[in-house]
Amino acid sequence: MASQIPREFIDQLLQKIDIIDIVASCVSLKKFGANYKACCPFHDEKTPSFVVSPTKQIYHCFGCGVGGNVISFVMEHDRISFLEAVKHLAQRAHVALPTDVGRAMPKQSSERLYDLMQEASRFYENQLKISDAERVKAYLIQRGLSGAIAKQFGLGYAPAAWENLLQYLKKKQFSVEEMFNAGLLSKKESGKYFDKFRDRIMFPIHDRQGRVIAFGGRVLDNTEPKYLNSPETPIFHKSNQLYGLYHCVKTQRHHDYFIVTEGYMDVLALVQHGVTQVVGTLGTATTEQHLQLLFRYTDKIIFCFDGDKAGRKAAWRALTVSLPKLSANKSLYFILLPEGEDPDSFIHQHGQQGFHSLAQQAMSMPDFFIQFLVAGLNLNLADHRAKFLHHANQLLQTLSDIELQRVLAQEIAERARVPVGEIIKMLKTPKKQAEVMSRLSQIAMPSHLRKIIAILLQYPHHAASVSEIVKELSSYDFLKELVNIIVCQKMLTSSAIVEYFRETSYEKALVELAVQPLLLSEEFLVQELHAMLKKMLSDEKNQAIEILMTKAQKSGLNFDEKRQLHEWLKQKPKQGNVN
Ligand code: GTP
Ligand code: MN
Repeated sequence: MASQIPREFIDQLLQKIDIIDIVASCVSLKKFGANYKACCPFHDEKTPSFVVSPTKQIYHCFGCGVGGNVISFVMEHDRISFLEAVKHLAQRAHVALPTDVGRAMPKQSSERLYDLMQEASRFYENQLKISDAERVKAYLIQRGLSGAIAKQFGLGYAPAAWENLLQYLKKKQFSVEEMFNAGLLSKKESGKYFDKFRDRIMFPIHDRQGRVIAFGGRVLDNTEPKYLNSPETPIFHKSNQLYGLYHCVKTQRHHDYFIVTEGYMDVLALVQHGVTQVVGTLGTATTEQHLQLLFRYTDKIIFCFDGDKAGRKAAWRALTVSLPKLSANKSLYFILLPEGEDPDSFIHQHGQQGFHSLAQQAMSMPDFFIQFLVAGLNLNLADHRAKFLHHANQLLQTLSDIELQRVLAQEIAERARVPVGEIIKMLKTPKKQAEVMSRLSQIAMPSHLRKIIAILLQYPHHAASVSEIVKELSSYDFLKELVNIIVCQKMLTSSAIVEYFRETSYEKALVELAVQPLLLSEEFLVQELHAMLKKMLSDEKNQAIEILMTKAQKSGLNFDEKRQLHEWLKQKPKQGNVN
């Protein structure tokens, strides 16, 4: 996404916009030393831990950990995409978007598309009200849906005719091509267009701002296909939309948990019975984007799929795609319904209380993980244990959270009857370690490196003065990249640097380091920066010298190695003085 917009444009935009103006229009900021503080708009809190720095043009919440530059703030606050946020900020700053961005998201056509979908939704909704919709109403009643729920979710009806919507939208000045691009018409071989949805109950799908972006349509009997969904369009991407999410988050942002179901009817039935924190995956398998989206609003996701083989399989798939996104405080649970039930049928029978007690007994991720993997195996047999261990281990590698990995490793070890250490050892492949390193977590990044990066982020104009010495380092690839982009791309604000690393594994750590208080004067910090880097370089050289000396003793050195060693030894006293 980000790559669609030239980086220079983003840099200019970041320079034109003041994050303080933007944040202040959403939350009430109070001056606090060099920074501003507020109660975090992204989680509930009584004392302010949300900090905005005017110099770094970055915000960070020490409570819930969100943070980033002004683009991230707008994305997070208005729940919009990167492109939309850039567009919005460009408008505020009165700068024109580059033409190729215009092409990526033509203002005109996408706005018309939203209008068109809104009109279509209005049309379908009105059709429910007219008198010959009795059959439809009777169906909804028979499914146990109240008029209030139908209204809340904007349900409608597509009449059993070929051109009703088409003619209606034509009168509203929309072209047939526009309707077709919106996924509302089908086309005959003869080239003739007709309404795609006919004689179906219509479920509008809203984006997180409440705009209608697609429809699902259900037949009223047993004909096939049971559901027809809008195709992918410029405004509808199935894999990152969840049915009902808008209704959950429009009034309250953070929730204790979310129930994830598969169907439209499941969502409606649960909401009607007072289980309001519920979304539907629209019949697609759960995706990583779904997870990412939901974890912005909650720390706990409860999957509740049908109580049959397909439902179990869907739950397992959800588990496997989620593993990389989980951590000790981002957890998954699974409600396994009785065979033959779906959430809709269950809640009609057992009511809110029944559902809540089921939710309370939801299975934790590690429990479901083990249960699913051992199903059909006899762990008294060595070859079954080996099979289990093999499969479990593969999945264990995909977790990124170390604590969770430890918990699962323990569970696996117990079932496979091997010492847990052996399982942990299997994890510690160099690749895994490299991954952990690249995450730059508190554990993996040595404190002097964190400090260097913090100084560079907060005083980027000093990067040029260390670029030579950093080039000489043989390891520390990330540091090299950082200095290189600051110097070569003249990125002189924390905000621009953080922008460069958007959607990489470094993003979060960089935001944290950019706002970390450094306590000392700039002059002193820069001295420290140079001293630390020189020490790192001399440590590296000393190590290399040691390796060469050992080699010299053991097997002798070739000409180049001798020359190298000689040169290093000559330099050594000079560097020894540094610290
Ligand atoms: P009811 O049968 O009315 O209770 O609907 P449901 O929501 O319980 O549907 P079901 O559990 O059968 O399927 C779950 C979801 O999968 C539905 O809500 C749809 O989004 C999707 N789905 C089901 N059947 C079809 C189909 O025939 N075609 C398509 N495209 N999607 C379907
Ligand atoms: Mn159902």
